[in-house]
Amino acid sequence: MNLTLKIWRQASPEAAGAMQTYAVNDVSPDMSFLEMLDVLNEQLNEQGDEPVAFDHDCREGICGSCSLMINGQPHGPEVTTTCQLHMRSFKDGETITVEPWRADPFPVLKDLVVDRSAFDRIIQAGGYISANTGSAPEANSVPAPRDKALRAFNVATCIGCGACVAACPNGSASLFLGAKITHLGELPQGQPERYSRVADMVGQHDHEGFGGCTNIGECTSACPKGIPLDVISQLNKDLRTAIKHGH
Ligand code: SF4
Ligand code: FES
Repeated sequence: MNLTLKIWRQASPEAAGAMQTYAVNDVSPDMSFLEMLDVLNEQLNEQGDEPVAFDHDCREGICGSCSLMINGQPHGPEVTTTCQLHMRSFKDGETITVEPWRADPFPVLKDLVVDRSAFDRIIQAGGYISANTGSAPEANSVPAPRDKALRAFNVATCIGCGACVAACPNGSASLFLGAKITHLGELPQGQPERYSRVADMVGQHDHEGFGGCTNIGECTSACPKGIPLDVISQLNKDLRTAIKHGH
């Protein structure tokens, strides 16, 4: 495949960015999108030009770092992560635009790399349980109802990629927040801090500058892990209870 790429280039957080056009040839349809960018970067290196900076780590759909807006869609045309997106999803001769996430709390560091540490600070505000250390307790000593355990495991698959924020016209991280609240709030171990957790995490979310949820649903459509929209209902329900309890 021969492709034209329009890529956001920005030298530093303070620099003005702009779209630059590149031709990349002999791309295999079996390559992942990141492997295609590797081909481009080898080309740029050979020409003595600065390679395009982009974030990645596992390349297996686990770490959530490969955040790219491709043709205006978070992670591109398939509902998956960019590292699991294959070039067979594009046509020979196609022009593809590649941009970083666009949201104030995710400032661009360089080219396609954004700073997603706002998510880390939300987790630090409450995304944990306090438990005495020591050897692991016998698993059957803390019974968890099966439906609650399944729901907790399902939403624990959130990889913190930020596609929900990039897709949301309000720049809200409510789906991410809802996944974390539900994951811990469904299990017995998460109960002692359930309501202080939701108040603290929502407070940090708002402090970071993420927007409010108006139930548009773009987040769940873009989520590579299929986190359902009803985690936001759970978030709002727990927040109402937290406020009632004076948190
Ligand atoms: S909820 Fe989905 S889109 Fe949002 S951070 Fe988690 S995995 Fe990514
Ligand atoms: S590189 Fe880890 S999810 Fe894509």
